[in-house]
Amino acid sequence: MTAQLINGKEISQQRLEKVAQETAARRAAGLRTPCLAVVLVGDDPASAVYVRNKKLACEKVGFKSLSYELPAETSQEDLLQLVDSLNANPDVDGILVQLPLPKQIDSQAVLERILPHKDVDGFHPYNVGRLVVKMPLMRPCTPKGVMTLLEAYGINPEGKKAVVVGASNIVGRPQMLELLLARATVTICHSKTQNLADEVAAADIVVAGVGIPNFVKGEWIKPGAVVIDVGINRLDNGKLCGDVEFDVAKERASMVTPVPGGVGPMTIATLLENTLHAAELHDKA
Ligand code: GUN
Repeated sequence: MTAQLINGKEISQQRLEKVAQETAARRAAGLRTPCLAVVLVGDDPASAVYVRNKKLACEKVGFKSLSYELPAETSQEDLLQLVDSLNANPDVDGILVQLPLPKQIDSQAVLERILPHKDVDGFHPYNVGRLVVKMPLMRPCTPKGVMTLLEAYGINPEGKKAVVVGASNIVGRPQMLELLLARATVTICHSKTQNLADEVAAADIVVAGVGIPNFVKGEWIKPGAVVIDVGINRLDNGKLCGDVEFDVAKERASMVTPVPGGVGPMTIATLLENTLHAAELHDKA
């Protein structure tokens, strides 16, 4: 069996069109144009690409965006001051501070400074807690984007065994909560997990987000499983590859996301959905 490819590019395009339509409708109704503030500290090349793509996507859907590019030696105090000013700025609906931050900055302190209603990444402990108690406000972009992809392809996680590989705050942990919210039976695996192969082999749905190329072996995949690869790793030859050994996995899975063109575009589309949601919350405030 060769798996059906899950086309994240196409689904993200559809979602962006919907956001663009809703943005136009807001304007026609005399409501404010959503505005996303994007903060990049330092010169990490991958972060620069992500931030550029986020700003381009804002333009595409008719959002305003504000861009702050700060030097690598920026102090935590200066960054917190910028966050405070964006929190207080009534023109700003969403604030995104691109991670990772330079070593001298405590990332968690920065994320916790963003007002939860402007936290379009969904990383503030308030938003994480809302997800835990089944009352999400802002849902982290990548895991929510994965849920959108599953839904678009008619995959209902209810009652399925889902295995998440990787327990990061950005992907694995919120992904576990999203799948639980969708009533899957969820196992989360991490660096101390024993018999990872057996855990993965039991999964109807595998979500991999570890940041290591080809970490999840294709032969571990249960025949017919759905495989979602969140990894975007750049190899020495310049090519991108995921966390799952794609060529083998696609011969066993029923559906699989490619890298690139799978989850990646969904993260950005979801960020814009969250920013629109933040603008709606802002309208009511
Ligand atoms: N770095 C890697 N992924 C993300 C993300 O989703 N949001 C932010 N802010 N930084 C990231």
